[in-house]
Amino acid sequence: MSARKPIAKPILVVHGPNLNMLGTREPDVYGTATLADFDASLETLAAELGCTIETFQSNGEGELVTRIQQAAKNNSGILINPGAYTHTSVAIRDAIAGVGIPTVECHLSNIHKREEFRHKSLVVGVAAGQVMGFGADSYTLGLRALVGLLDRS
Ligand code: DQA
Repeated sequence: MSARKPIAKPILVVHGPNLNMLGTREPDVYGTATLADFDASLETLAAELGCTIETFQSNGEGELVTRIQQAAKNNSGILINPGAYTHTSVAIRDAIAGVGIPTVECHLSNIHKREEFRHKSLVVGVAAGQVMGFGADSYTLGLRALVGLLDRS
């Protein structure tokens, strides 16, 4: 079997609003692992998969849009948990559509099992796919899926 072509640029991992509070935020819904724990597991997995990641968290919609725009030049793909902006942000959706690099959306919780206002994602229509409901595994499964996509592109 021939060796895998390396993924050229780091994968950008984007965490939206309130995800900096993981660990203490609604632990019954989101568990007790912190954002640093999530990022550390993704770093470990990225090394296993032979790629690199850059992580970014912001509570601000504009900052998230600006970082996504920068990914057009700097990153091969995006793994994003847009948090509450999933359900409201045309701006984040447009930023992802605009950069045109493979993007996977992930959520810790199953948004379809929760309040009705969480059932709609404005982002999924511009993502390659969505992983949800598996806690930390939603991120690691999402990273695996994204790397698979990039390998085949
Ligand atoms: C979330 C789900 C969103 O509805 C919520 O606003 C979040 C977290 C999740 O990962 O399950 O902040 O994106």
